[in-house]
Amino acid sequence: MPAQFIDVPTYKLSHGGSIPAVGLGTWQSKPGEVEHAVEVALKNGYRHIDGAFVYRNEAEVGQGLKASGVPRGDIFLTSKLWCTRHRDVEGAVKTSLANFGTDYLDLYLIHWPVPLNPNGNDPLFPKLEDGSRDKDTEWSINDTWKQMEAVLEKGLVKAIGVSNFSEKMMGKLLSTAKVVPAVNQVELHPYLPQHDLIAYLKSKNIVPQAYSPLGSTDSPLLKDEEIQQIADKHGVSVGTVLISYQVNRGVVVLPKSVTEKRIVDNLRLVKLDDGDMDTLNSLHKTKGKRFIKPDWNVDLGFEDW
Ligand SMILES: NC(=O)c1ccc[n+]([C@@H]2O[C@H](COP(=O)([O-])OP(=O)(O)OC[C@H]3O[C@@H](n4cnc5c(N)ncnc54)[C@H](OP(=O)(O)O)[C@@H]3O)[C@@H](O)[C@H]2O)c1
Repeated sequence: MPAQFIDVPTYKLSHGGSIPAVGLGTWQSKPGEVEHAVEVALKNGYRHIDGAFVYRNEAEVGQGLKASGVPRGDIFLTSKLWCTRHRDVEGAVKTSLANFGTDYLDLYLIHWPVPLNPNGNDPLFPKLEDGSRDKDTEWSINDTWKQMEAVLEKGLVKAIGVSNFSEKMMGKLLSTAKVVPAVNQVELHPYLPQHDLIAYLKSKNIVPQAYSPLGSTDSPLLKDEEIQQIADKHGVSVGTVLISYQVNRGVVVLPKSVTEKRIVDNLRLVKLDDGDMDTLNSLHKTKGKRFIKPDWNVDLGFEDW
C-alpha cells in the first residue's frame, strides 16, 4: 500500500498561539553534535525545538538556531525548569534565555514535580549522605506554579506547562492554579500509551507531548515485529510509524536525533488506518514498559512507577 503522507499539523494552545506537532528533542545530544542537528532540522522544515536547562547544551542549541538562518519568530522554542530551581523560576528562565541567546521562550515547563534542595551538595543532582535525592520538602509545586504564572505575566515566556505530571499531580496543581498549564510533556509510545492520562489532559484543553517516542536509547520498539509490519505495509521506517502514531492521536511528538538522515526522515508523517492504530494502541497490554524512571523516591502518582 503506498504511504499517504500528511503535513505536520499545529495544535492550538490554551494561552493563545499554536505549537507544531513535531519538535526536535535535544536530550543526550552531545557537545559538537547538537548545533548541527538543530541547524539541519530547521533547514529541513522543523519549526519546534525541545530543550532543557539540565541537558547542558542550551548555548549550543542557540548557535544552531542562529546558524539555520530561520527567523526566531518562526521557531517554537521550549525549555524546562530544573528541580533545583523551583524557588527561583525567574532567575532560571533568565539563565536559559542567556544560554540560547534569545529574549523569550515559546514554552517553559516544570521539568519534574520534584523540588530538590537548591543549596545541596550538587547544583543539579544533590544527594543526602545515604545517597538518596536531597528533596526540598518545604516547597510545593503549587508555590512553583505561582512563579511560573509570574514569568508568563512578565512576558519572559509565551506559554507555561508541566512535564512528568500524572493525573494526581495535575489535580494538585490545578487546585490552586490561576492559569491552566498549556501542555504536559510525558513519556509516550506504544509500550506506554497512557490512554487515560491523555483523555484527561484533552478534557482540560491541555496539549499532551510525547517524549521518548522511539523508546529512547537502544529501544526494543525499533525491533518490534508488529510495528515493523505496519512500517512495511506503508513502505516507511519503524521510526516514521512511531512518530506518526502520536500525531495520528493528536499528540505533539519530540523525536531526538543527531543523525542528518534520521532528522529529515522523522519529519515525514504517514496517515495510519484504524487497524494500525488499534494494534499500536494495544501493544502495551503485553509489552508495557516505561523507559525513563529516575529514582526520585517519591510518589508521582503513576501506576507503573
Ligand atoms: N521531559 C522529560 O523529562 C523528558 C525526558 C526524556 C526526553 N525528553 C525529550 O524528548 C526527546 C526525545 O526523547 P529521547 O531523547 O529520550 O528519545 P527518542 O527520541 O525516543 O529516541 C532517541 C534515540 O533514537 C535514535 N533515533 C532517532 N531517530 C531514529 C530513527 N528514525 N530510527 C532509528 N533510531 C532513531 C537516536 O539516535 P541518533 O541521535 O544517534 O540518531 C537516539 O538514540 C528528548 O531529546 C527530550 O527533548 C523529555
